[in-house]
Amino acid sequence: MTVDPNAATQGFASPPPGHRRPHPARYLVPALVAGAVAVALGVYGKVHDPAGTAFNLAGFSSSGAVKSWLATVAVFFALVQLVSALMLYGRLPGPAWSSVLHRWSGRAAFLVSVPVAVHCLYALGYQTYETRVFWHSLLGCFFFGAFSAKMLLLRSERLPGWLLPIVGGLVLTALTIIWLTSALWFFRTFGVTT
Ligand code: HEM
Repeated sequence: MTVDPNAATQGFASPPPGHRRPHPARYLVPALVAGAVAVALGVYGKVHDPAGTAFNLAGFSSSGAVKSWLATVAVFFALVQLVSALMLYGRLPGPAWSSVLHRWSGRAAFLVSVPVAVHCLYALGYQTYETRVFWHSLLGCFFFGAFSAKMLLLRSERLPGWLLPIVGGLVLTALTIIWLTSALWFFRTFGVTT
């Protein structure tokens, strides 16, 4: 008689208690890294003297216009992230390459947002002179912390299924509010110009 090596585990509705629960470090390390990244950016933005540097790109009227358009492109890719994530979770019909779409739209959103945030941090700093600017600065720092946590969590196995959607949702929500409090404000104040 042959013995099925998996027989011992078959028939269990769930594995023995404690067996599948991830070690707390799997949450703790990403959470600590997220906090450290966000706080480090905020402290840098607060303590250094904002350089006020403006740059100009051919075809654009100001650095604010360049940044607002780049931020809009980042939000576009972030929406592709949302749609492709819903496909991956079976909530929307999607092609076999949904995961490739998710990975590349995420990389694109991140790459586009980095130069914008570098200018914000370096040239403008962490500012709180208006409610809008306060939330923009705070969530700008939070975004990079939460993004780092998401990247670290992706490499962990056996996480509860709800964790990545929650962290991904936080990153997306933060970017949306960052856009509303900067690019949308810019377009409404100066017009939709390039
Ligand atoms: C994903 C990250 C970020 C994006 C996409 C983003 C985008 C933008 C855009 C489009 C503007 C308007 C253009 C301009 O005034 O130059 C802006 C302004 C600004 N940003 Fe950011 N930003 C990000 C992160 C940050 C961070 C981390 C800080 C500081 C800690 C920051 C601080 C500011 C400040 C102080 C302004 C000027 C606000 C005003 O007076 O209207 N931003 N940002």
